[in-house]
Amino acid sequence: MRSFAGRDILSLKEFERQEFFRVFEIAERLEPIARNRQNSDLLKNKTLVTAFYQPSTRTRLAHEAAMHRLGGHVTGFSDAKMTRAGDFYQESIKDTVKMLEFYGDVIVMRHFQQGAPHEAAKWASIPIINGGDGWGEHPTQILTDLYTVLREKGRIDGLKWLAVGDMRMRTMHSLGYALSQFDCPITFVAPPDMGLTPEFKAELSQYSVNWKEADHVEQAIAEADVILVEPVVQPDYTKSRDERGKEVALTPANYRITRELLSTKAKSDAILLHSLPRMDEIPVDVDITRWSRSWQEAFNGVVMRMALLALILGATE
Ligand code: CP
Repeated sequence: MRSFAGRDILSLKEFERQEFFRVFEIAERLEPIARNRQNSDLLKNKTLVTAFYQPSTRTRLAHEAAMHRLGGHVTGFSDAKMTRAGDFYQESIKDTVKMLEFYGDVIVMRHFQQGAPHEAAKWASIPIINGGDGWGEHPTQILTDLYTVLREKGRIDGLKWLAVGDMRMRTMHSLGYALSQFDCPITFVAPPDMGLTPEFKAELSQYSVNWKEADHVEQAIAEADVILVEPVVQPDYTKSRDERGKEVALTPANYRITRELLSTKAKSDAILLHSLPRMDEIPVDVDITRWSRSWQEAFNGVVMRMALLALILGATE
């Protein structure tokens, strides 16, 4: 297995099966620190730089919280408009990261352009973590989701997945690549104009993912052990900021997971994941059902980033 020390986390396409389990093992080991709301000194001499060119609540703050839990330091920006990348100069990724590498020891970057973190990794002498790039990938989110499945179900192999949402989404790409390393059949349900792209379908087959498509969640939910939902009413992820200008549409029934649907059709022990933010695809009254794991996912989001930071910064091998 390759060492994580000094490594970029850009894509789950690059992840091998043993590497997933290594990250999960470290996450489990560090979890008590976060669960007991303590801080440790594992990364006391290290600094995380956050470079967020797109809005985020969870990804940026979970990385920052993880760094604090491990005794490290944090600097960075959450709005590129306040940097030279977002004003008259439109400073390049290269010039920006050639500065940031002197301000810390690892950079987590979210960007509206697919491939921007990969470009940053070409120039930076410190590791880059992809915090979501356009429609590209969101590897740390799917690592969090897989870890949540492992913790909640006790295993990953042998579980059937249902993924509902916009299949152009970065999380869906990371999910597809990740499941290539596990025995996990998956059914995708998406609106016709948000379906799997031909390129991604070809990749799923190339990577031996056992996948199929359905039109309506009702057709697929009964066999699912893990139901992962993302919005179909959502912003354009290729823009730096997409504010809500007018009333938005409601999510069609095909892509909504309601309490009634879960009660009548889902497996009794299935788990429901949504990384958030949400629109109306999971009504709030689902939150208190036994299927929902969104808040466990949120907690695990911090634990997962603790594990990645500890591994990348060489605090644990
Ligand atoms: N799940 C997720 O990526 O949330 P943020 O956009 O708030 O980071």
